[in-house]
Amino acid sequence: MKISVLGAGKTGGKVVEMLGDHLLHTFDEEHPPTLEKLKESDGVIVFVPGDAVSDILDLVIESGVPAAWGSTGFDWPEDLDDKVRSVGSKWVLATNFSLGMNIIRNSIKAISAGSAILKDPAFHIHEVHHIHKKDAPSGTALSWKEWLDKACKVTSAREGDVNGIHELTVETDTERITLKHEALDRSIFAEGAIWAMEQLLNNLTLNDGVYTFGQLFDHIMKESKS
Ligand SMILES: NC(=O)c1ccc[n+]([C@@H]2O[C@H](COP(=O)([O-])OP(=O)(O)OC[C@H]3O[C@@H](n4cnc5c(N)ncnc54)[C@H](OP(=O)(O)O)[C@@H]3O)[C@@H](O)[C@H]2O)c1
Repeated sequence: MKISVLGAGKTGGKVVEMLGDHLLHTFDEEHPPTLEKLKESDGVIVFVPGDAVSDILDLVIESGVPAAWGSTGFDWPEDLDDKVRSVGSKWVLATNFSLGMNIIRNSIKAISAGSAILKDPAFHIHEVHHIHKKDAPSGTALSWKEWLDKACKVTSAREGDVNGIHELTVETDTERITLKHEALDRSIFAEGAIWAMEQLLNNLTLNDGVYTFGQLFDHIMKESKS
C-alpha cells in the first residue's frame, strides 16, 4: 500500500516514521496537498489540527481515496457520510486511535449501566494534554462523555508535553470508582491509524461510507469471531 500523510507534526510525524516504505507523500502547511498527489495514493492518514480540516476536507472527498482522520476539535458536516459514499470511498474518524480505547469504550458503557444501582453517583471526566493542544475538552473526553450518556462534569488541564491522560471518576458519599487511560507514547495513535487504514483497504466486508473507530473495530472483531 502507498499511503500519504496529511499533517506531519507531533502525531502525523509518528505515522510517517512507522509507514516506512509504504509512505508516498507527506503534506503540511508549506507543502499542501494537491488533487493529483492525493489520487496517486491508496489512502491518506490525516492529523491536521481541527481548525485546518475545512481547508482540506473537500479536496480529500474529491480525491475519492480512503481516509483515516485523527483530527479533533472539528464539527463534521451532517451530510459527510452521503458525500463519502457518493465518491465510492471509505473513511474512519477517530477522536483517539489507541486500540486500547476500544476496551475503555466497553468499560464506560458497563460503568454507565452499572451505576444505576449506586446512590446519587457524581460523574467527572478529567483530561490532561500538552500545552500546544488547541481544542479543549479533548475529542477523547467528549467521546467518553457520549459513551457514558450521563450528566457529567468535564475538566481539562494543559501541562508540559503530556501525550494524553483521561480519567473518569464515579463518586458517591461512600465509594469512588476510577477508570484511567494514559497514552505513554504518541506511536499508539500512529499504530491505530495505520491499522484502521489497512482495514479500509483490505477488508472486503466494509461498505462505502464513514465509520467511527469504534464501529470499525467492532465490525472487525465480529467478523473474526464468525
Ligand atoms: N485521533 C487521535 O488518536 C489523535 C491523537 C493525537 C492527536 N490528535 C489530533 O490530531 C491533530 C494534530 O495534532 P498534533 O499534536 O500532531 O498537531 P501538530 O504537531 O501541531 O501538527 C499539525 C500538522 O498539521 C499541519 N497542518 C496544519 N494546518 C494545515 C493545513 N491547512 N494544510 C496542511 N497541513 C496543515 C502542520 O503543518 P506545519 O508544521 O507546516 O504547520 C503540522 O504538520 C489535533 O487535532 C489533535 O487533537 C488525534
